Amino acid sequence: MQKNKSLVLGITGGIAAYKTAELVRLLIKSNIDVQVVMTESATKFITPMTMQALSGKPVFVGMWDEGIDNGMPHIELSRHADAILIAPCTAEFVAKLLHGRADDLLSTLCLARDCPLLVAPAMNKQMWGNPATQRNFTQLAADNISIFGPGNGEQACGETGDGRMLGATELLAYVQAHFTPKIFANKKLLITAGATLEMIDPVRGITNLSSGKMGYALAQVAADMGAKVTLVSGVSHLSAPINVTIKHASSAEMMYNTVMDNIADQDIFIGVAAVSDYAPNEVANQKIKKSAESLTIQLKRNKDILAEIANRPNPPFCVGFAAESENVIEYATQKRIAKKLALIVANEVISAIGSDENQVTLIDDNGNHSFQRTSKVNVATILLEHINKLL
Ligand code: C5P
Repeated sequence: MQKNKSLVLGITGGIAAYKTAELVRLLIKSNIDVQVVMTESATKFITPMTMQALSGKPVFVGMWDEGIDNGMPHIELSRHADAILIAPCTAEFVAKLLHGRADDLLSTLCLARDCPLLVAPAMNKQMWGNPATQRNFTQLAADNISIFGPGNGEQACGETGDGRMLGATELLAYVQAHFTPKIFANKKLLITAGATLEMIDPVRGITNLSSGKMGYALAQVAADMGAKVTLVSGVSHLSAPINVTIKHASSAEMMYNTVMDNIADQDIFIGVAAVSDYAPNEVANQKIKKSAESLTIQLKRNKDILAEIANRPNPPFCVGFAAESENVIEYATQKRIAKKLALIVANEVISAIGSDENQVTLIDDNGNHSFQRTSKVNVATILLEHINKLL
């Protein structure tokens, strides 16, 4: 695990400043240390007191604020920072950054920094679409400044379009992606996730209990590590991870076809989806009416996507999940051999389903490696780092 990161969060004067209260809470919960610096106009939208209470640190606004040890706030505040994030970043502040102006504490900090600068634009759609703003953002990108967003949707001014700041959860995801070492740069990963749904008639189906949390976490962390990730998702209510290509496939057959269409050139294939082993022989065109005392549904075996890929000549590095309710390690070991997998992740199914946490044992040619129960995001990091070592 890496050491905790530290971030200077610069807030400029836009209505989206209210979202930074939640952002600070999420950053701190993710073990990212936050030092807030605000422009004078940002304080009209959200108070320094709010940000101080949430970040647990004094908030700085003016160049001449007392309280910085050596009296050089423009250098001292970002000296130990791993990055500066400006959120919201107004059109005016972008113009300032672009010209290297330094007429307040935040712009001076940005000019004097020796760490990466990240910006989350927030403005009305006309301001965003203005050629001057577009020119400025093109130049910022050319200066190696990372731009997160903007999003599209309803704006505080009542209009709808491009320019609104990303939400706190999305910004957290971008910051985490920024801080993650790129050990999978140039690697391609295909991941299946979620449950499949096998229709019986137009309103009924057979499914598995799977939230998709483990597969989605793997897709997000792999993308954060620099991989080009395709996520083939069965049924899941989770929102799409950032920087990931997502393809929806609800039945086992659709998932099989989507995986086969996308498997060429993949370096790694991880089957996390809870794929239904059987599907009804026939799907009724109309809703089956309740009449007879009993009803028999004939099922046929679905194809095993993972086993088929692992048994190809020159397969990608194949990883499976074995969710078992008893004899977890024994069954997982047998499954790894039967499917010819490089690695299998064994977990006890009842405590894992729907939970944000999982307790796993990784089984490969070198033996078993057990890990303590931890968040699915941590499990994803552990698994991907392990795969990287084996590769
Ligand atoms: O055989 P079992 O379903 O227990 O194996 C679980 C592993 O195989 C998981 O990685 C799952 O995603 C994958 N699998 C698959 N296609 C199937 C059934 C399982 O890819 N039809």
